[in-house]
Amino acid sequence: MRETINFNAENTEQLEQFRIRFLGKKGELNDLFELFKTIPNDQKREMGKIINDLKIAVQQKIDELKERLENNQDQPVAKEDLTRPSSFSELGARHPLSVVRNEIISIFSHMGFVVSEGPEIEDDWHNFTALNFPPEHPARDMQDTFFIEKSPEVGKDIALRTHTSSAQIRAMERNKPPIRHLYPGRVYRNEAISARAHCQFHQIEGLYVDKNVSFADLKQTLLYFAKEMFGADTKIRLRPSYFPFTEPSAELDVSCNICKGKGCNVCKYTGWLEILGCGMVDPNVLDNCGIDSTVYSGYAFGMGIERIAMLKYEIKDLRLYFENDLRFLNQFTGVY
Ligand code: DAH
Repeated sequence: MRETINFNAENTEQLEQFRIRFLGKKGELNDLFELFKTIPNDQKREMGKIINDLKIAVQQKIDELKERLENNQDQPVAKEDLTRPSSFSELGARHPLSVVRNEIISIFSHMGFVVSEGPEIEDDWHNFTALNFPPEHPARDMQDTFFIEKSPEVGKDIALRTHTSSAQIRAMERNKPPIRHLYPGRVYRNEAISARAHCQFHQIEGLYVDKNVSFADLKQTLLYFAKEMFGADTKIRLRPSYFPFTEPSAELDVSCNICKGKGCNVCKYTGWLEILGCGMVDPNVLDNCGIDSTVYSGYAFGMGIERIAMLKYEIKDLRLYFENDLRFLNQFTGVY
C-alpha cells in the first residue's frame, strides 16, 4: 500500500522531517542519485535532468513552507477557505406574552414593585379560602377548577391555581409589610378552548400592603401603568365590581387606543377597554395571613397578560398564543 505523505507541514518540526526525508544524507533524492550511477550512459542526460528538476522542486517546496510557517508564526495552516461566508445562525424571538409580561414588570418596577412567585399546583386555602371565597362560591365549582385531589378536610383540596391571587396569600404569610409585589404566572381554568377563552393563560397580580395605603394610591398607580403601557394620552375609569378578596372592588377600563375613543369593534363601540380587576385588600384576607388589618391596609390588582397583549398588538384569537405557528411568532422577531 502506498504511504500518504503530508506535503503540508503544519509546524517547523514536520517541515524538518520532510526535509530530512527528501534531501537528507539518507534521503530519497540521494537514493535516486545512487541509482543514477547505475543507468546506461545514453540515458544519463535525460534522467539527470529529471532528478535535478525534482531536487529543485523539493527545495522550492521547503522554502515555500518555511516562509508560510514564519508568516503564520507556527500557527496551523488553515485547512478551510476562510473567505467563505459563515453559516447563518438563526436568532430566536421572544414570545409576545413574554414581551408583554416583561413590559408590565418593568413599568411597575419603576414604582418599587418586585417580582415574587407562587406554585401552579395550589391547595384550596391559598387559591380560595384565605382569599375570602365563601364555601358555596361558584368559582369553586368543578366546571371552573381543575382539581387534582379532593379532600374531606376543609381547605385541603389540591388544584391547578385558577388565578395568581393565590401567590399574594403565600407572600403575606411569609413577609411582613411593607410588601410591594408582582406575581406573574400561568393559571388554569376548565374552559372550552375558543378565540376568547382558553384552559391555560397568564396573569400578573400586584399587591401593596403598608400603613395608610388608600384607594387614591391604587388609582394613581394604575393611571401611571395605563399611560406607560398604552400611551401618554390614555385615560382610565374605574367601575364598581365584586371580588371576594377586595372591598371595595373595581374593574379598570382604559380608553380604546385603537379608535382613540371614537368607537370600534375592538371596544364594541364604547370607547373603553376593560383590562383588569382591582380593589382594597379585604381585611379578612389580611387577618387570614396574620397581618393586623387594624394597622395595615393594602390594594391588589390582577390582569390577564393575553388580554393586554391582544389589545397592544391587535391579536384577535387567543389560540394563536399556544399554537407555535411561526407565521405568528415571526412577527415578534426583534421585539423586546
Ligand atoms: N383574581 C382575579 C381573576 O382572576 C383578578 C383580580 C381581581 C385580582 C381583583 C385582584 C383583584 O387582585 O383585586 O379574575
